[in-house]
Amino acid sequence: MSPQQPVAVTLIPGDGIGPEITEATLQVLEALDAPFVWDRQIAGAASVAACGEPLPRACLDSIRKTRLALKGPLETPVGGGYRSVNVQLREEFKLYANLRPARTLIPGGRFDNIDLVLVRENNEGLYMGYEHFIPIDGDPHAVGMSTGINTRQGCRRILRFAFDYAIRNGRKKVTVVHKANIMKALTGIFLETARQLHVDEYKDRIVFEEVIVDACAMKLVMNPWQFDVLVTTNLFGDILSDEIAGLVGGLGMAPGANIGEQAAIFEAVHGSAPDIAGKGIANPIALMLAAAMMLDHVGRGDLGQRLRTAIDQTLNIDGVRTGDLGGKAGTREFADALTRRIRAAG
Ligand code: NAI
Repeated sequence: MSPQQPVAVTLIPGDGIGPEITEATLQVLEALDAPFVWDRQIAGAASVAACGEPLPRACLDSIRKTRLALKGPLETPVGGGYRSVNVQLREEFKLYANLRPARTLIPGGRFDNIDLVLVRENNEGLYMGYEHFIPIDGDPHAVGMSTGINTRQGCRRILRFAFDYAIRNGRKKVTVVHKANIMKALTGIFLETARQLHVDEYKDRIVFEEVIVDACAMKLVMNPWQFDVLVTTNLFGDILSDEIAGLVGGLGMAPGANIGEQAAIFEAVHGSAPDIAGKGIANPIALMLAAAMMLDHVGRGDLGQRLRTAIDQTLNIDGVRTGDLGGKAGTREFADALTRRIRAAG
């Protein structure tokens, strides 16, 4: 893609803190002179309030056209209510790869020099929503059941994505995380496919390692530096990526990309944070780092890197930080300081 060409992107500000961190992100993208042209859409609770639907057709049509979206967090009702819009978007656009990098941004914390990438399968496993209750003796929820599905094709696709990503980005090792000792079919197929694919196609190009998910969770807090790129199934990936985000200062610092053959959607890993929504104190870095990943994705890695460098400098040289990082800055103050950094460097 030529650097000058404008890139149409669907913009979904989202719920809770979504609009606040989105405005902050748009401000710094403008300072960078990023080539994005935004098509604003709504989804989630904001959309239910506006038009009664959590995922309106206009939003879907926009992503079909742009094949690219920057998305704020969307609220999902717990227990009952509508199905997660995030999950629906992943299914609709077959966004099978969830890429979640985590890097230490503020040195001197509990874990220094972290640089990990988690690749999570996004379309299969226990998140497919094949669930139901069995009523017994007047209790409509006497039994809860869920069926997970992993396919050979789905496993191969995500594993190939992880191996290729690791090689392309100069990584040393891919760790396959599973629970094949207990869930011998559901995650056994994932491990079996990983071993085979590595032997057949990647043996000479990248180091392969396997670890059981519970041990992995422990090792991540004991010695996270032993890992490099991790790849795993849907539920384990969701949990481990939050744990990994915790190693680098929490959810406010963790970006994510949902990548498929038909589209890519970039977002923060965190949710809508209803406890701090509207207070102007949310940390916008995760969404900004997601925007940096989107710049890389459209061939503007130069701007993505400028954004990451400016975030590092704002945090560590200017000392401007939001409350979750022990600072006093609000969302807007952080965005203003970052904008000054970007303009000074530009
Ligand atoms: P959450 O990630 O919204 O919040 C967890 C804790 O982290 C809260 O104390 C919150 O204040 C804090 N936090 C999160 N982001 C922050 C930020 N940028 N700056 C400072 N503090 C931050 O998770 P929770 O409370 O479990 O979920 C709230 C809602 O978000 C739910 O409706 C859930 O379904 C939805 N959600 C949406 C996601 C998405 O759209 N990708 C991902 C995760 C949850």
